[in-house]
Amino acid sequence: MNASRFLALSLALLICLSLLFASCANEKLPEDPSSEPISEVSSFEPDPEEEESSLSEEESSNRQEEVSQNNQQESSSVKNEASSSRPVQNEVSSRPAEKPATKPGGSAAVDNEGHGIFFVIEKEDLPAKQSDEFYFSYVQQYDLGWNMKLLNKSNMLSADVDCELVDVGSGRLFDARASKALNQMISACRQAGNTIWAQSTHRTLAYQQKLMDNQIQKNLNLGYSREEAEYYSLLWVAPSGGSEHHLGLAVDFNEITEYFENTTTFAWLQENAARYGFILRYTEEDTEITGYGYEPWHYRYIGPDHAMQMKELGIKTLEEYVYTVEYLLDKQNNA
Ligand code: DAL
Ligand code: ZN
Repeated sequence: MNASRFLALSLALLICLSLLFASCANEKLPEDPSSEPISEVSSFEPDPEEEESSLSEEESSNRQEEVSQNNQQESSSVKNEASSSRPVQNEVSSRPAEKPATKPGGSAAVDNEGHGIFFVIEKEDLPAKQSDEFYFSYVQQYDLGWNMKLLNKSNMLSADVDCELVDVGSGRLFDARASKALNQMISACRQAGNTIWAQSTHRTLAYQQKLMDNQIQKNLNLGYSREEAEYYSLLWVAPSGGSEHHLGLAVDFNEITEYFENTTTFAWLQENAARYGFILRYTEEDTEITGYGYEPWHYRYIGPDHAMQMKELGIKTLEEYVYTVEYLLDKQNNA
């Protein structure tokens, strides 16, 4: 073989190798969207067939903006303009505790590695069950610690939370105090043979507003009136200031689709998430309490003590659990 033929063959081989490498690298990471899908379930919901959960370029670019905003530690305060049939009622974030959190009689209050107050609740101590509307409208009374902040349509932030955020993969940010638990849970889930990744984590208020605007626009494009479009959007996307993603303590897993419920990953999380401090936040049976449709992909960190206790007591929503804890604190303080 002469020198020029050898050179040509080597060059061809090199090109083949680099093409092969590039295609492997592209397969490694999932796409990087992060809007909530218009999912299904509610009788008020627009036709899910028309709203596949695949993510548009615009949403992907919003995600990129979010990451860059987060990196700049932007601190914006976007007022929530979205309307709902149930009005947004209160702002509780960042306010100091109105009353000190003290332990109910007989139970041991534990400060667990920087977590807020925790005490053991016996089944016989549980308060009488209240109506869904009561829990939906319940306004958090106490500062129970960073891990136990209730954020929903009745408990809103007026500014981004100022906490240390760390990258838990691909630029996605999580509260530093809970990131170890998230990483450990993901590792253990994978070790058990499941596929799992954190698809959407911390969001600024400004980014949440963009998600809301996009969702409303999608519904307007489907032919709904503005009032209907806003109402339907609020069933799936939190108003800016009302999303747990603002806290850096909420995570949406994998493709953010309803199908997630049928995966072994979901089954594993149902069994094990509480041990790592996470709860399934928007359950199928409790949409009247949470104010949102069923989201099998959305998990919230509250710490292992509280998460395990919720499981043991059979309390499914954070609204009911926070009310229970505060009811017992009140009972103690008034004793
Ligand atoms: N999809 C949940 C409610 C959020 O937007 O935070
Ligand atoms: Zn979520």
